[in-house]
Amino acid sequence: MVKPIRDTDGPRHVAVIMDGNGRWATQRGRPRLFGHHAGAKRVREIVQACPDLGVKYLTIFAFSTENWKRTQTEVAGLMSLFRRYITMEARALCDQNVRVRFIGDRVRLDKKLVGLMDELEQMTRGCTGINLTIAINYGGRDEVARATKRLAQDVAAQRLDPENVNEETLPKYLDTYVLPDPDLVIRTSGEARISNFLLWQSAYAEYEFIDTLWPDFSAEEFQGLINNYAGRERRFGAVSV
Ligand code: FPP
Repeated sequence: MVKPIRDTDGPRHVAVIMDGNGRWATQRGRPRLFGHHAGAKRVREIVQACPDLGVKYLTIFAFSTENWKRTQTEVAGLMSLFRRYITMEARALCDQNVRVRFIGDRVRLDKKLVGLMDELEQMTRGCTGINLTIAINYGGRDEVARATKRLAQDVAAQRLDPENVNEETLPKYLDTYVLPDPDLVIRTSGEARISNFLLWQSAYAEYEFIDTLWPDFSAEEFQGLINNYAGRERRFGAVSV
């Protein structure tokens, strides 16, 4: 049985919906991609802050399965930014002992980007510091559907008994199978929705919806949210003790 806890140690796994890049750029009379570039700089700062804040896992939502509906210019610009980020940051991430993983469906991504993603995962395989997971072409429903397909294939091939399909076996088929569930989910930019992010995994996460646009989100504000979290009682459906 899961006991209620007051998690004074702070969240081990923080997931972030980095929203507001477009508005941030528009407010400055610049194209949306300018905001995404500013957002990428923020990613660097927040990753660097994690070890001091006791955050062992950071998962960030970079591109959703729904983001393909944006203009071709924005989509191409974002893909190019991801390639650039991986190429430019790989060495620094290794030096900071960051283990990088990607989640999401890689099938629709261009081969060059997938090659860089694979390479960075390999390069950081032995890193034992923080775990950075970047969600690209990720959707929670899509992930559950892909997981269910693989699970059904295992049942059909008699590798899995349907009697053994439960809350412990199903997550083994999710993209996040090696990660703990998020303790805290943060969404920037004033929107109070989860937009198909880590639907299964966040069933008992604590949420923070803040007004700050992602390119303005600072390590100090991050620390403040982590401090708030430490004061919350997580009951997991049980009663207060
Ligand atoms: C949402 O803001 C943000 C995105 C869809 C892209 C997130 C990407 C980054 C932060 C860039 C860098 C990431 C990495 C991993 C290098 P929005 O465009 O929906 O903003 P809006 O709601 O103000 O329009």
